Amino acid sequence: MEKMWAGRFAKALDKQADDFNSSLHFDARMYKQDIEGSMAHAAMLASKGILSAKDAEEIIKTLGDILSDIQSGALSLEAEAEDIHMFVEAELTKRIGDAGRRLHTARSRNDQVAVDIRLYLREEGEGIISMLQELLAVIVKQAEENQSAIMPGYTHLQRAQPILFSHHLLAYAMMFLRDIDRLRDALKRMNLSPLGSCALAGTTYDTDRESEAKALGFDGITLNSIDGVSDRDFCVELLSAFATVMMHLSRFSEEIILWCSWEFKFVELDDSYTTGSSIMPQKKNPDIAELVRGKTGRVYGDLMAMLTVLKGIPLAYNKDMQEDKEAIFDAIDTVKQCLTVFPPMLAGMKVLKENMFSAAQKGFINATDLADYLTKKGLPFRTAYKISGQAVAYCIKEGKVLDEMSLEEYRALCPEIEEDVYEAIDLYTCVKTRISAGGTGPESVKNQIAFVKGKIENV
Ligand code: ARG
Repeated sequence: MEKMWAGRFAKALDKQADDFNSSLHFDARMYKQDIEGSMAHAAMLASKGILSAKDAEEIIKTLGDILSDIQSGALSLEAEAEDIHMFVEAELTKRIGDAGRRLHTARSRNDQVAVDIRLYLREEGEGIISMLQELLAVIVKQAEENQSAIMPGYTHLQRAQPILFSHHLLAYAMMFLRDIDRLRDALKRMNLSPLGSCALAGTTYDTDRESEAKALGFDGITLNSIDGVSDRDFCVELLSAFATVMMHLSRFSEEIILWCSWEFKFVELDDSYTTGSSIMPQKKNPDIAELVRGKTGRVYGDLMAMLTVLKGIPLAYNKDMQEDKEAIFDAIDTVKQCLTVFPPMLAGMKVLKENMFSAAQKGFINATDLADYLTKKGLPFRTAYKISGQAVAYCIKEGKVLDEMSLEEYRALCPEIEEDVYEAIDLYTCVKTRISAGGTGPESVKNQIAFVKGKIENV
């Protein structure tokens, strides 16, 4: 196919160079946005008398036909065109001739692609926010259903203090709520139209960028045409937000993987989200969680690729910027894949409360509570902490846990200790008495559930 710019060239583009240069095989997915942008552009040109009403009408109608032909499969996107913008324009011109050739007045592919990608990301970004909301709903449901389950809380992966399992889950809810905030924030900043920036310097035509922006659902227009076509900050911001979503999913996956090992056995994943081994008959592997953890690396890579593409390019548009799309598309696809399988996997996860509780009974996770008990009896915290440490050392030597020490044994360490020590170090008491705001106490957990529910409904 002859290139649009053939007039200036004596030779055609080398075939391999042409393939290398072409982006249609990946930017074809923006066909809808490209057509919407062109429709708004034609309408604006007509409103300003730059295009006749008749031409605009024909262009808009035919663009609509092209859109439905692509959607129905009647028009294949596997063509020779360099990119989706050239594809749509060529198809339009094929169908209506000169009117189609007039569409590209007061516009360039540089502002066109900048608009298309923003429109595309707006839609995908909103979709991912909805998927995060669904994930939050699953987290809240699991938290609600397992409000009484006690598990060991860890630091350094060493048993630290008893916590409610729901409290642990809700920590992830807070992370995903922040992810939604981050995405919303980036989407809002992105929602300005660069259309009308043209190649880089604006245009000699008396255009109306504002109306065009409004028609496309933007909050306003970009104010510097060079920036309008060169800016891909929004890709970086979204990729960074996606990378953070993946980081959270990966941490969560890592815990689920640990929890379903025989060493922990805190949860059992549903058969439908696990796989067997080709040789070891006993195996039940958490492949889905592992893949989510593994795919995190891709999205980090996409972010790094985008930052690296941008760091060395002078203003304004350079072809390097075509690389934005594969990075951001891959990140979107990956995040969506993960958010498709992770919530149902989590929803079907059985919580093995007894195992969690018996793990919580080991490891002296009530040693802090013993120290707090002594402090409440009037001892300075450091002294109490030391005595509690001595009690732990004694228990390790005797092969027992704190709850199994006799009152005599306790009194030998510290005469202030009384019968009420057993109540004070009971795991239920330990959790119940963590009454500080945001702590693991049941009140706080209830508040968190209500908070997250409210957020899901309102975002
Ligand atoms: N396919 C190009 C991209 O994705 C569109 C913009 C091309 N502009 C140009 N001056 N070559 O970046």
